[in-house]
Amino acid sequence: MRMRINMVKNSKTSYGWMAIALHWLMAFGIFFLFGLGLYMVELTYYDEWYRGSLELHKSLGLVLLFLWIGRVVWRWINTSPAMVGTAIEKKAAHAVHLFLYFLMLALMVTGYLISTADGRGIVVFELFEIPAMSISFENQEDIAGDIHWAIAWSLILMVALHSLAAIKHQLINKDGTLMKMIRPKANQ
Ligand code: HEM
Ligand code: HEM
Repeated sequence: MRMRINMVKNSKTSYGWMAIALHWLMAFGIFFLFGLGLYMVELTYYDEWYRGSLELHKSLGLVLLFLWIGRVVWRWINTSPAMVGTAIEKKAAHAVHLFLYFLMLALMVTGYLISTADGRGIVVFELFEIPAMSISFENQEDIAGDIHWAIAWSLILMVALHSLAAIKHQLINKDGTLMKMIRPKANQ
């Protein structure tokens, strides 16, 4: 039992269940929101799903923001598993990971700025409301919208690179990097 509890946290050799769950939950959420985002901006006012798709996009986006905060705190108070590869590969992977965290946050913040440009808050799944800020800037909706679009594509491109690296580690280096993010190692 003690071992199971330990497996929630990261160890020197692998991520724990918490980091793994957060990684994949957020990855699926982001892929889904990317697809939904591209789809919903094509809808017009007369489409049945015009409002619903936007509400879902905003609610889920804010849920991802809460998960992001929890994930960063969790990472802070945990050990990080050792990386494999040459010094330069480790530096590159580390830099990509930090950049991914930054892009995720920037995407959520710009999403918030688009949605609250008219001074109205965001109701998350009809449960509670995240208020708008009392200050806004000119053309906030358009500017934040352009940046949101550019960051969404940048994030997806970086994720493609990140996934290719993971697949390369799995198929070519065969060094267990991908397994670190799939299942915690038991005996430690
Ligand atoms: C974190 C993951 C997110 C992803 C991957 C994502 C992705 C996207 C994409 C691809 C678009 C379409 C952009 C376009 O073609 O113009 C979009 C639009 C939009 N997103 Fe997000 N988004 C995310 C989070 C959020 C959040 C947290 C909010 C607000 C709380 C939000 C609010 C919006 C709004 C209002 C639009 C419509 C913008 C427009 O009409 O120009 N998004 N999003
Ligand atoms: C939206 C999609 C994704 C995002 C935003 C993302 C983000 C991240 C971040 C930030 C880390 C660093 C974790 C930490 O140390 O705190 C990470 C690690 C990792 N990710 Fe992803 N990821 C995504 C999708 C994927 C996919 C599709 C794969 C596999 C094909 C993958 C495989 C991995 C692996 C193996 C690690 C551990 C790398 C190591 O520590 O050496 N990720 N991911």
